[in-house]
Amino acid sequence: MPELRDIAALRAWREAERRAGRRVGFVPTMGALHDGHLSLVDLAARSAPTVLMSVFVNPLQFGPGEDYARYPRDLERDRALAAGRGVTALFVPGVEVMYPPGSETRVVPGPTAERWEGAMRPGHFTGVLTVVAKLFNLVQPDVAVFGQKDIQQVTLIRRMVRDLDLPIEIAVGRTVREPDGLALSSRNAYLTGAERGQALSLSRSLRAADTLWRAGEAEAPRLESRMREQFHAAPGVTVDYIAIVHPETLAPVKRAEHGTIVAVAARVGRTRLLDNHVLGMEFR
Ligand code: PAF
Repeated sequence: MPELRDIAALRAWREAERRAGRRVGFVPTMGALHDGHLSLVDLAARSAPTVLMSVFVNPLQFGPGEDYARYPRDLERDRALAAGRGVTALFVPGVEVMYPPGSETRVVPGPTAERWEGAMRPGHFTGVLTVVAKLFNLVQPDVAVFGQKDIQQVTLIRRMVRDLDLPIEIAVGRTVREPDGLALSSRNAYLTGAERGQALSLSRSLRAADTLWRAGEAEAPRLESRMREQFHAAPGVTVDYIAIVHPETLAPVKRAEHGTIVAVAARVGRTRLLDNHVLGMEFR
């Protein structure tokens, strides 16, 4: 599995794939790979014979005081997992490759970025869209794959692709969960044993909303208060937001229907976790 570290190497590799007539699937990551990332590799491989994965902890999407410095980094482990799952090539640029001195242009999202995560983390989505646009320009994938867990990120990337006419198909992989329901996240590595238990309140709240909705309750405030109840037994968890929203606009809805998204963000100790569920989909 070739490991491409600079733009010249990546472009040469991409050109060879083009000449060979192979579609390229792309899985952008910040490393610290888990089964969620690897399931995205499987999804990419279903629509392209070649799968490129990038591993880059993007400083631009972390705010002051966030976890950029301590974000888990283990390239050796990531390399082994990616190769084992059939990744064709890795792109592992340094910060100076992605942001050489003097780099100042940014991709700024519209109002869809102002709610939820965007409100909690000012500038975060500008950082995400800037790096994803750069990666798209470099890799020129036919299809790029993102995880449903970061639902607002997916929504904004889809909009960027549409608004900027990027010729890239976006595929979304379902959230992968531990057997007890915890959504896989690289940040789970920060949790202590006790916090790991309390973190289950996020997926429990989504399941509770799903159960109540399936029993016939569609009023968003009732679903939200049922979700909030799940945090009463988790005093170490601070809910940042509960969102019951339209799947495309991410605007709050009054009544939930099939396809409505229920999302939650919460701090478990010092660790911020996200999770969401699409009503009507099987919860697993
Ligand atoms: O979801 C992530 O891991 C990151 O936000 C992404 C898409 C790789 C951009 O840095």
